[in-house]
Amino acid sequence: VDVYLSLDRRAARPLRQQIVDGLRLAILEGRLRAGARLPSTRALAAQLGVARFTVEDAFDQLAADGYVEGRRGAGTFVAAVAGPVASDRRSPVPSYPDSVAGADARPAERTWSAWAKRLIALDPPVDLTPSLPIDFRQGMPAVDVFPHERWARLRNRARRGLDSDSFHYGPVAGEPGLREAIAAYLARSRALRSGAARTVVTSGTQQGLDLLARLLVRPGDAVAFEEPGYPAARRVFQAAGAEIVPVPVDKDGLVVDALDTLTGVGISPRIVYVTPSHQYPTGALMPLGRRLALLQWASRNGALVIEDDYDGEFRYGARPVEALAALDSALPGPGVVVYVGTFSKVLFPALRLGYLVLPNDLVAPVVAARAVTDRHSPRLDQRTVAELIESGDFERHLNRMRKLYAARRRALLDGLARELTGIARRDPATTAAGLHLLVTVDLPIAEEEVVRRAAAVGVHLDPAGPCYLSPPPRPTVMIGYASVPEQAITEGIRRLAGALVRTED
Ligand SMILES: Cc1ncc(COP(=O)(O)O)c(C=O)c1O
Repeated sequence: VDVYLSLDRRAARPLRQQIVDGLRLAILEGRLRAGARLPSTRALAAQLGVARFTVEDAFDQLAADGYVEGRRGAGTFVAAVAGPVASDRRSPVPSYPDSVAGADARPAERTWSAWAKRLIALDPPVDLTPSLPIDFRQGMPAVDVFPHERWARLRNRARRGLDSDSFHYGPVAGEPGLREAIAAYLARSRALRSGAARTVVTSGTQQGLDLLARLLVRPGDAVAFEEPGYPAARRVFQAAGAEIVPVPVDKDGLVVDALDTLTGVGISPRIVYVTPSHQYPTGALMPLGRRLALLQWASRNGALVIEDDYDGEFRYGARPVEALAALDSALPGPGVVVYVGTFSKVLFPALRLGYLVLPNDLVAPVVAARAVTDRHSPRLDQRTVAELIESGDFERHLNRMRKLYAARRRALLDGLARELTGIARRDPATTAAGLHLLVTVDLPIAEEEVVRRAAAVGVHLDPAGPCYLSPPPRPTVMIGYASVPEQAITEGIRRLAGALVRTED
């Protein structure tokens, strides 16, 4: 048969590959039918103006993939594949039985994404890589002053220490050395003395929450969630089918009385998600009285409290507070708190390492869930972090960062007072801690407009809107200051004031 192929000699794709692709498509579309004889390699090479071995190579590839068969002495023939198939693929996804798709997936919606939405409600993707000159993105630690060389040396040392067995799958719950190091660190810094056996290494908070949600949330279960709260955590519970029950936050964090009100009207959350050391995003610190009330409420109602302690290490001018989980362990009776920790703020987010400290009888289910999810976190990184903690460098790094962030925070507060008094006010709940400040803008404009005006002068701000289920009456933004040098903070606030104030005049 005649074969028409057009080759693009300027394309990056090699000619051999273009021939393979062209013939494959012709076979799949049925233009070349099963049993048809392809031209000889010599003839096709001459027709296309390419070297004969290029065509031979392409035929070899097609034969290896099962599209054609060479018959000795007789030439190359199109194999009896199931084609033509391309014309049957008008709908982008094969239709699937209604038991899977659900009656609400109309034929026109039979796309992979329509199917996927049945499992997880997708918010618009968050752009995690703003590229504006002054980057107040929340949640970023100061990677500019991270001890990269020290880290590299420790990593090398950890690699040299690996025997051949260490390249195999490792323990699902985490490298024993890292679990020990985390447990000892938590005992020193957060009064949490639960030991390595209850400490399970994860790929960060997000995975820790996901494992818990998979195990503990049944569709329709109520999960009490701070309002405003951490949207990435809220999505995990929503994805597991939970009904999110917003619970207000005041200057002392989650309002525990509101939980009682809920139970009073027959809503019994099985899980309460809280950030008691530094409420996200308001920055409130939950005082002891309310902590005790929360633990009592959970014990009385058979609920589990998930404590997300994402940046509790960073308190300025004061020691880190005791973890809620530590208070829970100190009380008589079975524990009701899962502690969720992360290395994203204290080291860097791309590391993807965190940990859970679990009540005893949750360890085995979580480890089993982790084993079927992704087995375990990379062993070399785990060992590097273990060495960092054991060497004392981890806590030295934290001390350095505490000083640096306190100075950066001061520069931000000074800048706000100097440039934006009467226009931008920080949340009254904010304590001197963490890596960001929640700021409300007293102007009659939309939050997106604040973000847009800032961007126009080269300043990236994160809108706080996604933290709220019921948006606040005034535009609210998060200003992440930890990764921005003081001078740039001052300059950023000056530019922000220009963009907000001048435009209003
Ligand atoms: C409330 C809260 N928890 C946890 C994290 C960290 O998540 P991960 O450990 O998955 O990086 C963040 C990061 O911004 C956060 O804001």
